[in-house]
Amino acid sequence: MKGIILHGGAGTRLRPLSFSGPKQLVPVANKPVSQWCLEDLVSCGITEISIVLGETFPELVREYYGDGSRFNANITYIYQGRPLGIAQAVGLCREFVSNESFVVYLGDNLLQKGIGKYLEKFSTEDFDAMVLLKEVDDPTRFGVAVFDENKKLIGLVEKPKKPPTNYALVGVYFFKPVVFDIIDELKPSWRGEYEITDAIHTMIKEGFNVGYEIVEGWWLDTGKKDDILQANALILDEQAVQQVEGDLLDSRLEGRVIVKGGAKIVKSTLRGPLIIGENCHIENSFIGPYTSIGNNCRIENSRIEFSVVLEGSFIENVERLDESLIGRYAKVIKNTGKSVKLHIGDYSEVEV
Ligand code: G1P
Repeated sequence: MKGIILHGGAGTRLRPLSFSGPKQLVPVANKPVSQWCLEDLVSCGITEISIVLGETFPELVREYYGDGSRFNANITYIYQGRPLGIAQAVGLCREFVSNESFVVYLGDNLLQKGIGKYLEKFSTEDFDAMVLLKEVDDPTRFGVAVFDENKKLIGLVEKPKKPPTNYALVGVYFFKPVVFDIIDELKPSWRGEYEITDAIHTMIKEGFNVGYEIVEGWWLDTGKKDDILQANALILDEQAVQQVEGDLLDSRLEGRVIVKGGAKIVKSTLRGPLIIGENCHIENSFIGPYTSIGNNCRIENSRIEFSVVLEGSFIENVERLDESLIGRYAKVIKNTGKSVKLHIGDYSEVEV
C-alpha cells in the first residue's frame, strides 16, 4: 500500500499566509496540517509516500519533510507544475504507485480519528476504489454523493448548485491502480480541472466496485483562517497533555498546558488546552485557551485567546487578541495614541 499527499493549490483563501508558503504548511497545534496527514499514513503502516508539489513554494515542503526519515517514512516528490486538478495530480503518480493499491490524502484535510479503520475496510472488501463521506450543512462547496433507495452509491457530483444529498466527499481516497486508466480518459470539468470526483463517478457508472464509508468524528478541510483556528482548537482538545519543559517564574497553569523547552513564562497565566513553542518568552500575559504559540515568540503584557501565532512573532501591550491567525515574524503592538497604525501584507484582514 502506498500513500500520496497532495500539497499543491494556490491557497487564495489563506492569503496573506499563502504568499510566503503553501497552505498545507500552516501549523495547527504547532505542526503543519500536512504533517498530521503524513503521521496518519505512517501510523497505518504506509511509509512509501509521494508528495505532489504545486507552484506555491514547493522547495519549502522539500526542506521541511526531506527524505522522510525524520517521520519514519520514505518520501519522494513529484512536481505537478500547472495545477489542473486532483485527478491530474494523481495521474502523475502512476510510476510511483506501480501495481499497488494506494491512498490519496489531500494535504489540507484533517480527520479526528484518522484513516486506519477505513483502510482496513478497503483492504478486506477488495474495492477498486473507496471514498469517505461526511454529512455537512453546505454540500455545494464539495464533491457530493448520490445514493439509490438502498443507500448504494450510484454517482458523485463536484460542487453541485443543487446538491442531491448532504454527504460531502472527504479529501481521502482509496484506489487500485485501475483508476489511472480512467484518469487518462477524463475531460476537464466546467472549472477547467480534471476532477477526481468525475473519475470515481465514471468508475461507478462502468461497474467497478466502489465502496464508501461515513466518517466518524470531525473532519475539516482547512482552507480558510476560521478552519485553521477550529482545527487548532479541536486538535489541542484531543492531544494536549500537561507537559512543561520550559521555565515557569511566578506563573499559573490551568488545564492541559504544553510548554516546550527553552520557553520562559514569567508572571503569566496559561489556560489550556494550549501549546507554547520552544524558546518563547511570555511575560505578564494571559494566554489561552485553544491557542498555539510557535517557537521563538515574545509576548508581553497581552492577552491572547483562541488563536494561532506562528514562529518568531512579537506581541506587546495588546489587551485582548481573540480568534486571530498571526503569521511568522509579525509584530502586533498597542499604539498609545488614538489612531490605529498598520503595516500589513496584501490581502490581510484586520478588525479594529
Ligand atoms: C476537493 C474535491 C472535493 C472534496 C474536497 C474535500 O475540493 O474536489 O470533491 O469534497 O476537496 O476537501 P477543493 O479543495 O478542490 O475545492
